Amino acid sequence: MKIVFANPVGAIGGAERVLLTIFSALLKLQPELQLYLIVGTDGPLVEAARKLGVRVQLLTLPKAVSEFGDSALKDKNKVLAFGILLLRLITILPGLGKYVWEFHLFLRQLKPDLIHSNGIKTHLLVALAGVRNVPVIWHIHDFYQSRPLIGKIWKWISASPNLGIAISQAVAEDATAVLPGLPIKVIYNAVDVNYFSPHFPAVSSSEVPVRVGLVATFARWKGQEVFLAAAACILKAHPHLNVRFCIVGGAIYKTRGSQYSEQELKDKAFDLGIADKVDFVGFQEDIAEIYRWLDIVVHASTQPEPFGLTIVEAMACGKPVIASQAGGAAELFTHNYDAIGVAPGDSTALAAAILDLLNHPEKRRVISERARQTVSERFNDKRFGQEVIAVYHYVLNRKQNSCCSLMERKKVGDR
Ligand code: UDP
Ligand code: GLC
Repeated sequence: MKIVFANPVGAIGGAERVLLTIFSALLKLQPELQLYLIVGTDGPLVEAARKLGVRVQLLTLPKAVSEFGDSALKDKNKVLAFGILLLRLITILPGLGKYVWEFHLFLRQLKPDLIHSNGIKTHLLVALAGVRNVPVIWHIHDFYQSRPLIGKIWKWISASPNLGIAISQAVAEDATAVLPGLPIKVIYNAVDVNYFSPHFPAVSSSEVPVRVGLVATFARWKGQEVFLAAAACILKAHPHLNVRFCIVGGAIYKTRGSQYSEQELKDKAFDLGIADKVDFVGFQEDIAEIYRWLDIVVHASTQPEPFGLTIVEAMACGKPVIASQAGGAAELFTHNYDAIGVAPGDSTALAAAILDLLNHPEKRRVISERARQTVSERFNDKRFGQEVIAVYHYVLNRKQNSCCSLMERKKVGDR
């Protein structure tokens, strides 16, 4: 079976890590699969996919298209957001037309059995490139109701996908509302539990500071400001605590206006008077090492998180996680059992939860052990690969059945 994946960017964020996990999980289960990846911008994903045995084609998106995004408009007035989008769309149209044609020719030449699209931009490109009789799967990593674009144009492209894979129940409910008529199947993301693993024995000493870290890309809703406010709250009440607050990550996307710069966050730490207690460690390639280096991992997204891969990665590394309990993230753990949940955006509650774990190392240990157990059971890559393959078979069988019934009807008509 030949499967073509399409991903808008070559940078590695959560959706791309999931894509890499799909590649390795599929190839572990069925090494004979032929996997191709079309990617819209260069970046570490290209090499990482090639290393796994995937044939990668870089079809570089015109700059205006790769910088085009609607996420920065999420909180704006709907009419205004649509107006801005429309204007931006008009500016990218000339480059887009040529690109769609190239995309179309490439797909036609490959003759895939199935197309698996991994981001909104490629969902739209695949729809526009229109390759007939090839089933299309949309991997849905976002809440589309909060995106101004997709709901508006759905009626024009609804014939393109045959099925949507939603990364959580919350995403499935949202997608069902925006994309009526599209069959949706929930497949929870997974991580490689061998790579994301704890190291034993954990070294602890009263001289070494306890490290509390937020691991996230610098998208504005990832809550770095809430994390800094919580840190300031703790340090104000307990100035002599032996603790360091670490911000791990960077502005990895090209989309305009949607991310913090590191300098902005450093200025915020400075304004809060905690600059000497905060470390900015930049975007890390070997992220499992970082989770192991941290003692407590915080997820502080201010909006409901569609899934929250960092939560599961940190849990797999045997770390106690404090997470914003909303959206798909709330489906990943049981509060006070294998992680701690707090209300999104509530820096006081976050400070209290961090302080509680700082003061109770035994609680940290128990939660960490359960966290690793949960990930091994629920978010392992074997389960993931099996569920993705089952979806492929479902879609291909449906296509075959509809072809057969079409032929049957034709035969009856001929008689
Ligand atoms: N990540 C990374 N290095 C960093 C910060 C983040 O590799 O310095 C990765 C992290 O391991 C995770 C992804 O970026 O796999 C973020 O995924 P998540 O689903 O949490 O959020 P997204 O940014 O995709 O919305
Ligand atoms: C998106 C979502 C994030 C999810 C990731 C992988 O980036 O924002 O919550 O974990 O995709 O599915």
